[in-house]
Amino acid sequence: MLNDLPTLLLPWYREHHRDLPWRQDQEPYHIWISEIMLQQTRVEAVRGYYSRFLQRLPTIAALAEAPDEELRKLWEGLGYYTRVRNLKKAAQVMVTEYNGAFPKTYKEVLALPGIGPYTAGAICSIAFHLPTPAVDGNVLRVLARLRGDETPIDLPQTQKMVRQELEAVYPKEAPGDFTQALMELGATVCVPNGAPKCESCPLSEICKSREEGTWEKLPRRSPKKPRRQEDHTVFLMECEGAFAVSQRGASGLLAGLWQFPNVPGKLTEAQAMLQAEQWGVHPENLIFSVEREHIFTHVQWNLRCYKLTCKVRSQAFRWHSAKEIDDTLTLPTAFRQFRDLLE
Ligand code: ADE
Ligand code: SF4
Repeated sequence: MLNDLPTLLLPWYREHHRDLPWRQDQEPYHIWISEIMLQQTRVEAVRGYYSRFLQRLPTIAALAEAPDEELRKLWEGLGYYTRVRNLKKAAQVMVTEYNGAFPKTYKEVLALPGIGPYTAGAICSIAFHLPTPAVDGNVLRVLARLRGDETPIDLPQTQKMVRQELEAVYPKEAPGDFTQALMELGATVCVPNGAPKCESCPLSEICKSREEGTWEKLPRRSPKKPRRQEDHTVFLMECEGAFAVSQRGASGLLAGLWQFPNVPGKLTEAQAMLQAEQWGVHPENLIFSVEREHIFTHVQWNLRCYKLTCKVRSQAFRWHSAKEIDDTLTLPTAFRQFRDLLE
């Protein structure tokens, strides 16, 4: 079935593709910049940025020497600044290791900073006419529907398999057009949001999903893992109008940010008073307790919070008024949610 793709896709692509600035030439530097910009950004948003970037930095050497401040300006609004920092790093590698030229093998391109299998495949097929597939979400969606394939597309082994299967059918005479035809079909016909335009799709005659009416169910993804649940007890300890705060460790979640003192687990009132005692704050009264939660990407914190008054500003913590906390410390949301309880 994949054997038919070049015959069906290439004539369609040549007739229907969008006229995009980065399709004017096959200069590897240009293709690279466009592919990096397009990684997390829509085609329409990229158009203007692409031309301005190349006007200002027309060569790999110019990019390698560009001041960070200028790069930041050229990238402002595109987001994900790591991308542009990696562009400069990779340009510097090309200057020192490849005489300022773009390396010409898939392996060397893949080894550059900021370039993964998708981008390496795109650059090598479009600029160097190599049979190297560029498999992204668009391509995975098209192939899953075409074959009625229910394998979850987020699995690395699925993506590797698709790359190998596509590589076997790459047309030697037009690898770049084939790469872009697959992208183009995913972006304009077999679209990610809403119904695919099967009536104008060059693959409709051989498409399983169209035959079986299953486009809505495809592609499939693996079920999300439930978030890890963590219990913590948070202490709002007040001593003569000041509250105890501490700085988180240099690594891990919320590294280096400020917090209200807290310990793992949900402590009972008696345990909480004992913990405060151990910190040397000489706890006096337990004012109240509340239960709250905070949801991160992979973890959920279930937080029991005790507010208590105490007699000693223990050296274990920094002590600040509510206003000082507002004005001088950055509390992450997980802890800022308790701010209203200080008053
Ligand atoms: N998305 C990623 N690469 C692209 C390209 N070369 N043309 C259009 N959309 C793209
Ligand atoms: Fe996608 Fe429809 Fe084309 Fe199948 S026929 S590949 S579902 S647009």
